[in-house]
Amino acid sequence: MREAYIVTSVRTPGCRRNKGAFAKTRPEDLLKTVVDAIFERTPNIEKKDVEDIMIGCAFPEAEQGLNIGRVIAQMCKFPDTTCGATVNRFCSSGLEAIALQIMRIKAGWCEVAIGGGVESMTIVPMGGNLPRPHPEWAKENPDVYISMGITAENVANRYKITREMQDEFGYHSQMKASNAMAKKLYKEIVPTPAKRYVEKNGTWIEETVLQDFDDGIRPTTTLEGLKKLAPAFAANGSVTAGNSSQTTDGAAATLVMSEDAVKKFGLKPIAKMVGYTVAGVRADEMGVGPAYAIPKLLKLTGKKLEDIGIFEINEAFASQAIYCLQQLGLYEKRELWASDSDKRIINVNGGAIALGHPLGCTGAKLCAQLMTEMRERGVKYGVESMCIGGGMGAAALFELVE
Ligand SMILES: CC(C)(COP(=O)(O)OP(=O)(O)OC[C@H]1O[C@@H](n2cnc3c(N)ncnc32)[C@H](O)[C@@H]1OP(=O)(O)O)[C@@H](O)C(=O)NCCC(=O)NCCS
Repeated sequence: MREAYIVTSVRTPGCRRNKGAFAKTRPEDLLKTVVDAIFERTPNIEKKDVEDIMIGCAFPEAEQGLNIGRVIAQMCKFPDTTCGATVNRFCSSGLEAIALQIMRIKAGWCEVAIGGGVESMTIVPMGGNLPRPHPEWAKENPDVYISMGITAENVANRYKITREMQDEFGYHSQMKASNAMAKKLYKEIVPTPAKRYVEKNGTWIEETVLQDFDDGIRPTTTLEGLKKLAPAFAANGSVTAGNSSQTTDGAAATLVMSEDAVKKFGLKPIAKMVGYTVAGVRADEMGVGPAYAIPKLLKLTGKKLEDIGIFEINEAFASQAIYCLQQLGLYEKRELWASDSDKRIINVNGGAIALGHPLGCTGAKLCAQLMTEMRERGVKYGVESMCIGGGMGAAALFELVE
């Protein structure tokens, strides 16, 4: 099979649902910013060269509905010949979109394409605007519909992931992200127009500012402060706002190409995607997904855990992230994930607890982060993985192009 390359990978900042910078900005506008940014960051390529745009979205309705892939192609003034599709695998949708484009290129069915993701959790709430579980089936099968927070409580209770462990993990996520933000390490961020309304002389005026940082990061986080937070999902539970992923608005996009196209346009790609896989698990403990998807990916690609120099494992909740790291034999090696360790290789610049988890965007967002980290650190193999609502895990292996 042919090779397929990641050439450019960018994201908007992640901004807090309702309270953050993108609360008044439509998802199409977030997506337009990153898709257009690909052409500002990639020389020699024009919109007419792109055959297809595939966009992940977990709740593809209302403002992010219809077929957002095709809508965005037209909004960004691609010619009519550039097609578009929407992909939904909940939390891995953005990665699924990139992987589908990679597979099409590998198969020889396409030369140049964009995969990405978008989610405005402010505008389309988690669960959608009108959730409609099947009334009879749901009585016997409620797990597919339960709150993700309850699945995180289930993981904590079943596998004895204590509140202290979760808070400590949340604290380190915040510290890693605070450090990365202060040192301007998120090179993949595209400054993104954000609408807001300000009162001037008794009149509300719309203005647009450029948002260039993730506004959920809390540098003042302390373990004592986290300890005081009330459980968010169960009266006597251990999952809180401080050890859960934040609900977030954002978009991300990645340009992928065949080897022939890379040569034709004279580009230097960042990495190639070596493999991608999904693994099914019980819906009521969906967070365990990466513990199954990552070993499956390693087997598929003939790699060992020790070959991997960097991991982006989505922190949907600290309980599930810790469980997955335990199963991989990585949690006990604190130096691999702690913020005060120079040897850390897991979520090196923080994870979704600090940076947010904009559902359908997350897979594309983590790809953009991973591409920056692999390139900046010269890491040969990187793995991206996440758990998925409904009971799944996804994982992808990337190899840096030297
Ligand atoms: C857990 C959850 C319900 C919390 O929602 P929320 O109350 O809106 O959360 P916020 O981030 O606004 O935090 C609420 C408060 O907790 C406190 N808090 C949060 N993080 C904190 C930290 N690191 N340190 C100290 N206090 C913190 C603050 O007082 C904050 O209020 P403020 O923003 O006014 O300062 C929500 O984030 C959630 O649902 N997360 C999971 C999303 C999910 O299921 N995704 C899919 C996964 S598969």
